[in-house]
Amino acid sequence: MGIIIQARNISKTYPKKKERVRALQEVSFQVKKGELVGLLGPNGAGKTTMVKIIAGLVAPDQGEVEIAGYNTWKERGRTLRKLSAVLEGNRNIYWPLTVKENLNFFASLKGQPPRKVQQRIDYLISKLNLEKKVNVTARSLSRGMQQKLALAVALVVDVPVLILDEPTLGLDVESALEIREMLQDVVYQENKTVLLTTHDMRLVRAICPRVIIINQGQIVTDDRVENLLRLFEAKSYRLKLTGHLTSKQEEMISLVENAIIHNDRHNGVYIDLHLESMDSLYIILDILRENNSPIESIERQEIDLEQVFLEIVGRRRKNGQPDSFASTG
Ligand SMILES: Nc1ncnc2c1ncn2[C@@H]1O[C@H](COP(=O)(O)OP(=O)(O)OP(=O)(O)O)[C@@H](O)[C@H]1O
Ligand SMILES: [Mg+2]
Repeated sequence: MGIIIQARNISKTYPKKKERVRALQEVSFQVKKGELVGLLGPNGAGKTTMVKIIAGLVAPDQGEVEIAGYNTWKERGRTLRKLSAVLEGNRNIYWPLTVKENLNFFASLKGQPPRKVQQRIDYLISKLNLEKKVNVTARSLSRGMQQKLALAVALVVDVPVLILDEPTLGLDVESALEIREMLQDVVYQENKTVLLTTHDMRLVRAICPRVIIINQGQIVTDDRVENLLRLFEAKSYRLKLTGHLTSKQEEMISLVENAIIHNDRHNGVYIDLHLESMDSLYIILDILRENNSPIESIERQEIDLEQVFLEIVGRRRKNGQPDSFASTG
């Protein structure tokens, strides 16, 4: 599959009093046609800035983004024929127009044939559960409904790339599910490419096979979600004990890095261990052997994406270096 989004060496600073705030630093990545990619990162990481640069709304200080070969800043007109974007504040809708008028208006702007457009509009309205609101002005919709309309407007025209900044922020469970399903259809049935930012790890887990994680303006991880989960799962163990630990053992184990002792009334004593290397596991086994403490089981821990995310951005904060597994591809 060909590359459709190409970001090369993007840096961006914003003025702040006499200094400049660095929002992005030498960010490069590629997205292939038909991919659905999550752009993740803590608040202030630079996600929205990246999205605005991709959409051609903000100029980078350095580097360039190409969509289907067009430079998003220097060839904005051509780029706009290739992409739709929904950013914070849903500014891609017209507040005085109704839901239906918005959809008709934006479809006609792009010169789509009327019959095809009507089918598409009906489909979007039903898919996003906007039927009861078709004659309500955008201004009078709830914020969640506005968000759904903004997505519908972005999808009413047939463009290959969709860029979304936090598409499910503040939505109720049902609306978030509608958007989730809509995006899957867009990618897997309509063959479009979607890049979205989000803090919602359940959304990522449900629909994004690949994530790019940025922290403090730099990419720290670019990998498939399943790889990340496997990588971290392989490093996390739970040792279940049959009896109790002596206070000396407890003290010694608490000195082992990334080992946490749990005393659970129902499940007994267990030790969770996140391995930097196998050494910590052997140290703990030695401590247990001293008193012949019986081990009931040693299991690999299930780990969720939220833990992985925190681990990745937390670790970077600690030593200031990207993780060694941060790779492109
Ligand atoms: N218009 C602006 N003027 C000055 N600084 C800005 C501007 N926009 C963003 N910044 C700064 O750039 C950095 C990145 O912000 P950005 O909005 O891209 O982060 P984000 O990852 O989208 O965060 P969030 O998760 O909170 O939406 C932050 O330090 C922010 O304060
Ligand atoms: Mg943002």
